[in-house]
Amino acid sequence: MMNAEGIFRYYEKDLRRVEGEIAKIFSSDVVVIPDIGRHLIGGGGKRLRPMYLLMSAALSGYSGDGRYVFAGVIETIHAASLLHDDVVDGAGVRRGKPTSHSIWGTQVVILVGDYLYANSLRMAVSQQNLKTMEAISYAVAKMSEGEILQLQKIADPEITEADYVRIVESKTGALISASCKIGAILGGLSEEKVNAMASYGLKSGTVFQIYDDILDFKADEENLGKKLGRDLHEGKITLPLIYLLKSANAQERQELTAIIDSTSDEDMPDKEKDGQIERDLKKVLTLFKKYDVIEKTMDKAKEIVAEAKAELSAFDDCKEKDALIVMAEYALSRDK
Ligand code: FPP
Ligand code: MG
Repeated sequence: MMNAEGIFRYYEKDLRRVEGEIAKIFSSDVVVIPDIGRHLIGGGGKRLRPMYLLMSAALSGYSGDGRYVFAGVIETIHAASLLHDDVVDGAGVRRGKPTSHSIWGTQVVILVGDYLYANSLRMAVSQQNLKTMEAISYAVAKMSEGEILQLQKIADPEITEADYVRIVESKTGALISASCKIGAILGGLSEEKVNAMASYGLKSGTVFQIYDDILDFKADEENLGKKLGRDLHEGKITLPLIYLLKSANAQERQELTAIIDSTSDEDMPDKEKDGQIERDLKKVLTLFKKYDVIEKTMDKAKEIVAEAKAELSAFDDCKEKDALIVMAEYALSRDK
């Protein structure tokens, strides 16, 4: 069986076609639009969503050019959402580079996000397939809902695991679910199989985000291309922290809530902030060790990987199915 690297290599030529579609969506004679496009999209990214779409189309027996268009559409919607997300999160670095809004300013970047989103939809509409439009618009509505719910739960130590799962399924799972679903729709599969692919995508996407949230605490910063401890600093209480809050004793819990409360201090100078993040992160990591928090979070993620794989039981065994199984596991083995 191929490993994830082999699968990415196998799809290299297809991904190049997808890049062409992305460039089309970015094109405009208002030059700041392709400028920001090149900065963000040309600046890397795993092309995870296009991969899921191509792989799902392959399993569904679809090999038409529409898959490149939809893969480009989904990746560009993802890019638009990151432009907005980095403004909302006040993030300074993404993929090892300064974020677009820190270069071009928030006003232009928000509007470029709108342009990319709208132009992606235009490109999708050109394919004249209503079911795919339903999948895309549902996903974007969910993503927005997830981001809004996440904002409402900022720095709320009462946040539950169920709240977290809902946020993550919405903000990340939904678009990956749509990627997988569109592949199956293009292949003209039965409703049962289309839904199985959508559930596989939802679960796989959820695992990716849970692991992202783990990496935020423990990755190699340089490799990750963004600063560690950002979530904590933004007041985002992710699954590891939820588990820690559950296990911690009264005094530790109080210390943790103090850290969470201090995170929204906007006026602190950057240098002091960095020092504080580092100290807070160290404290939290020590407690993670004490209560095996990362292991518990990984166990939960592995459970969801198993559920994702089980969704594929509706499909006959074949190498395309094996590849999707490998992708579900890859979510937990990457280092960025
Ligand atoms: C990154 O999360 C952000 C998302 C997964 C979704 C963002 C969605 C929206 C802003 C709504 C949809 C908007 C449009 C224009 C389609 P994160 O902050 O946890 O990850 P990060 O560390 O990569 O920033
Ligand atoms: Mg963010």
